[in-house]
Amino acid sequence: MLELDAVHTYYGASHILQGVSLTVAEGEVLGVLGRNGMGKTTLVHTVAGLLRPRRGRIRFLGRDITGASAERISRAGMGLVPQGHRVFPSLSVKENLKVAVRRARSGGRARGTVADGVPRFPVLGERWGLPAGVLSGGQQQMLALGRALVGNARLVLLDEPTEGLDPQTVARVGDVVDELRRRGTSAVLVEQKVDFALRRVDRVVVIGRGSVVHESADPAGLRADTATLRDLLAVGGTVAA
Ligand SMILES: Nc1ncnc2c1ncn2[C@@H]1O[C@H](COP(=O)(O)OP(=O)(O)OP(=O)(O)O)[C@@H](O)[C@H]1O
Ligand SMILES: [Mg+2]
Repeated sequence: MLELDAVHTYYGASHILQGVSLTVAEGEVLGVLGRNGMGKTTLVHTVAGLLRPRRGRIRFLGRDITGASAERISRAGMGLVPQGHRVFPSLSVKENLKVAVRRARSGGRARGTVADGVPRFPVLGERWGLPAGVLSGGQQQMLALGRALVGNARLVLLDEPTEGLDPQTVARVGDVVDELRRRGTSAVLVEQKVDFALRRVDRVVVIGRGSVVHESADPAGLRADTATLRDLLAVGGTVAA
């Protein structure tokens, strides 16, 4: 489904991704953990085509997409839920969903309809005609996830989808990740909430200073291994819950 081979990404002279290699199999949810500033968002942006890797290769659905535009990669079936629940603020809730549906159509995938986003997130239906920019942070995140669902992506990149949300909204985000998994949609889940991630991913990689420093196909085992978690992720001696 997705394969990164020794990917290097820079911001100007800053060498951020330093040879990241990983794979995501069909239907698999890969967790990406790592402390602040380790390069997780840089990784997501590189895969989504928002940043161009300087070296290395990226393959998606059997095709080389290294250096391809974000537009092309999205049309090929990659969905992105960016960090900070970004939506189109001046477009209405409905228009935001429409853009995602149109993208699925132009990529030739079975399409959802804009209304598909609503049963899961009734709050969106109540705000159908409002500009997305006036929604609360939690509502914007629901909309960003709704866009990923109606877009019928083959693989969805979720960059810290629970960041800054209240516990109830975090639980809804968990439902969406579980639903993607049930549908057999592949996903990359970047998280600081270690427990949230390890409960619902098939495999996990830990990013430290721009490369993969740990890999596990046993997320439950890693959850129980507090010593390793502390080593890999501890900030001031505590593991982010
Ligand atoms: N536009 C940019 N220009 C230069 N450096 C940047 C830019 N964006 C990020 N960086 C740097 O790249 C490194 C990795 O940042 P990145 O956002 O990928 O980390 P992250 O793991 O997603 O962190 P967080 O958990 O806080 O979201 C950091 O040192 C950051 O300061
Ligand atoms: Mg980030």
